[in-house]
Amino acid sequence: MQELTFQTNPISILNLEKTASFLGVSTATIKNWVKSGLLHTQNEQKGYFFHSTEIENIKNNITSGDLNKLKGYANKSKAERTFIPVEYLKDETNIDNLTKIINFVTNNNINIFTSLFLLSLNLLKKEKIILDYNTKDLTDDFQNLFFTNKQIGEEIKDWVTKIDTDQIKLAYDFLLNCPLPDQRDILGFIYQSLLHEGKKSQNGSYYTPEMIVDEIIKDYVKHNSKVLDPCCGTGQFLLAFSEAIENPKNIYGIDIDEMAVRIARLNILIKYKNKDFAPNIVCKNTLLEIGNYDLFSLNDENIRDFDVVATNPPWGVHFSKIDTEKLKTSFPEITSFESFSYFLKKSIDLLHDGGMISFILPESILNVKTHKDIREIILKNTSIKKVSYLDRVFKNVFTSVIRLDLEKNKNNNNQVVIQKESETYTAEQAKWKNNHNFIFDIHANNIDTSIIDRIFSTKHTTLTNQADWALGIVTGDNDSFITSEKRDGFEEIYKGKDVEKFILGEPANYINFEPEKFQQVAPVERYRAKEKLIYRFISKNLVFAYDDKQKLTLNSANIVIPRIQNYSVKVIVALLNSSLYQFIFQKKFSSIKVLRSHIEQMPLPLWESNIFNKIEKMVDDIINNGTEFENLDNYIFNEYSLSPKEITYIKNS
Ligand SMILES: C[S@@+](CC[C@H](N)C(=O)[O-])C[C@H]1O[C@@H](n2cnc3c(N)ncnc32)[C@H](O)[C@@H]1O
Repeated sequence: MQELTFQTNPISILNLEKTASFLGVSTATIKNWVKSGLLHTQNEQKGYFFHSTEIENIKNNITSGDLNKLKGYANKSKAERTFIPVEYLKDETNIDNLTKIINFVTNNNINIFTSLFLLSLNLLKKEKIILDYNTKDLTDDFQNLFFTNKQIGEEIKDWVTKIDTDQIKLAYDFLLNCPLPDQRDILGFIYQSLLHEGKKSQNGSYYTPEMIVDEIIKDYVKHNSKVLDPCCGTGQFLLAFSEAIENPKNIYGIDIDEMAVRIARLNILIKYKNKDFAPNIVCKNTLLEIGNYDLFSLNDENIRDFDVVATNPPWGVHFSKIDTEKLKTSFPEITSFESFSYFLKKSIDLLHDGGMISFILPESILNVKTHKDIREIILKNTSIKKVSYLDRVFKNVFTSVIRLDLEKNKNNNNQVVIQKESETYTAEQAKWKNNHNFIFDIHANNIDTSIIDRIFSTKHTTLTNQADWALGIVTGDNDSFITSEKRDGFEEIYKGKDVEKFILGEPANYINFEPEKFQQVAPVERYRAKEKLIYRFISKNLVFAYDDKQKLTLNSANIVIPRIQNYSVKVIVALLNSSLYQFIFQKKFSSIKVLRSHIEQMPLPLWESNIFNKIEKMVDDIINNGTEFENLDNYIFNEYSLSPKEITYIKNS
């Protein structure tokens, strides 16, 4: 069956069956997702009809293993949670003082706008920009306040018009006088701590720790550079720019969040408190309201002339349907609807030739199939200067994070510097252009690449469009459906950890299989296929079991049912479990999740039938008689004509 795509009909409505088939789940699962708010039916239609854009987004999340993100959208309790981003603090001993402030605001139900207004005054007093005031000035007549910097005075007076003065009375004593620690962007830190988790993930508002930002600036910003953060938040990057830049008018910031922009403006004004200027920081939607030619209404000579664009853009933002349609028109090349990709494309457009981009991004940009759109744009328009791995920098973001540095030009001979833990090596950018889906396989050094190239140069096929796929079952209520001992009417069900190479281990769980009651279940015939492979989904290693007994799996164990004519499923299990394929997997993807897109790219060599027969026999011996895998493992190495030295290298990798 050919996979459904929406290429020919971009704004379509799908019915229940088509949606289930496209997402590879049962119709019952789709109904459950509607019930729990994960999916939305179209109001204008009666029954289960869905907008293709929403389904495409969900498909992207499933493909990139991010189903949890999807569930996050519907999870109200999570949306209402706040947390203190400790990683943003330079000195963690300040945490007690800050927690007091945050608790005061939350317990007294003071709105964020008012709180931050008062805290800004507190900061301005500390910085000696506002002269001492009496409380009457604050509640009755702001015109009497005196500021040493005229522009700051304007900002504050504009801000106060938006605030409920009754709330000010309630909160001013504490918030005006509480000690504020010396910490860059202290207001931004407090703002982040007060924002609800739901709003933060909606706008992708996780601000970047100082240390990471400073490194970027050190590498690229000079005293006369013209620089931009296109989604500046409260201005962590702008403040870092200001360490190097003399003229504050050369620092540009944009953000969609009004509160964040107010703080960012104030931060920059305080930083250059002896200068008379209005900051170039505005509240706008960068993707939809900023043209490439009229940024801040500059004249045409100034277009596309940034020296550096640096930021941590929002990741995985859920755009409204209206915005999605507009984005499709403005950025037709971005088919993934991924927010960081839009920001990257926009930033490339705003740089002059030779200008630099430095972005903080999830590792998935390098190798997940969905992001091939932006990888192609990067390869065509920039030299990738550096990819560096940053250790877990955001406490509440559980993906690996990288820093990607690009120079805008069309140089084809670029060597990319890769920094991973203590290792630094180079890779050839030109090779990535020829990779399937333009993958940036940065885990492979030049020796690895030459071995992998040879494997791929053997005539082969792949599982792309030649297999059916299924996720394991999510019951939604394991206590009711799963038991640890076998009961009447129950059957074995396997989790990822029960899957071993070639065989399923002893079952630890049993299920009363009532698919219509489960939260997520694939079409039943996929579990009941005559032959299938079951694999661990969360794993650094490829672990595939062969199953011809129609067993069920839970969500940590996924299923692939190969459908390649004259290609035995047993040969595929041998290849995927081999040390050689582990090496390819590790070097190409270095992932802790085994994704469908990874498996689809693995080469399946078109060897002679006598070789296939031998492999099948060896697999039978392993499954039925428990024979060691080593002989088969070596046999695969030899069929690819790898030298003993190369085999040792691969095994030690
Ligand atoms: C991950 S935060 C990063 C903030 C800042 N660059 C930093 O690194 O600390 C992403 C920011 O993007 C902003 N944002 C999201 N969508 C936007 C849009 N369409 N236009 C402008 N800003 C946007 C959010 O409000 C948020 O402040």
